[in-house]
Amino acid sequence: MLIARTLPDLRAALTGDIGFVPTMGALHEGHLALIAAAKRAGGKVAASIFVNPKQFGPNEDFSRYPRTEASDLEKLAAAGCHVVWLPDVATMYPDDAATMITLEGPALRWEGAVRPGHFAGVATVVAKLFGQVRPTRAYFGEKDFQQVQVIRRMVADLLLPVEVIAIPTVRETDGLALSSRNRFLSAEDRAKAPALFAALQAAATSIRGGADITETLAKACHYLMNSGLVPDYFSLVDAGSLEPLQAFTHPARILAAAKLGPVRLLDNIAV
Ligand code: PAF
Repeated sequence: MLIARTLPDLRAALTGDIGFVPTMGALHEGHLALIAAAKRAGGKVAASIFVNPKQFGPNEDFSRYPRTEASDLEKLAAAGCHVVWLPDVATMYPDDAATMITLEGPALRWEGAVRPGHFAGVATVVAKLFGQVRPTRAYFGEKDFQQVQVIRRMVADLLLPVEVIAIPTVRETDGLALSSRNRFLSAEDRAKAPALFAALQAAATSIRGGADITETLAKACHYLMNSGLVPDYFSLVDAGSLEPLQAFTHPARILAAAKLGPVRLLDNIAV
């Protein structure tokens, strides 16, 4: 596996058909499922590790975001990744940089409302990474469903020559979606965490069965609060635009975020 820390090294290593997995490191089985999907498609597999300061708000966890480069590199090598791109902040955001992507549509609500500027930071860094790596295909986890829709929209609007591929969420056996931040859950909170996916499954089943949407979503929020989680949102949305749905139309998704101790859990389910 080739480790590139400068753009000339990256360019020398990458030509032809490339499947790309952008990450912020602290890799888990969810990331490795993206690498596996990229490998199945053939061509070279590239991953990046860059903890992107522009997608963290001033009071968020940028400084304590887990950084585990040595073990990440071992995992990527074992997974058969060909090239890892490890840019530094000066390469991604030179002092004279003057361009950020602004977003509307699927970026406005949910995480976009709770974390102002987050998706502008994500879209800007992903566009830069696409420009550096020049992938044919890029792989993202459905756990961050809104992020996937924001990136799809950006790729379509900016006519970027890359196919965005979403890969299903990888879960613990009790349903908790894998996340690099799960390590910050105390044992007590970890025991409560599966309530989020349980609530999503129950709500999706009820809505599919014709239950009232407002009542179902309210019931799910009560269940979360009774389980010790504090919901930020739990909403039925159009799966493309992410606009809230009052009536069930296909394809729909329930998006959910809830606070649990120092962690915000994010998850979603198709309806
Ligand atoms: O999902 C992530 O890990 C990040 O948001 C991404 C896509 C690597 C951009 O920094």
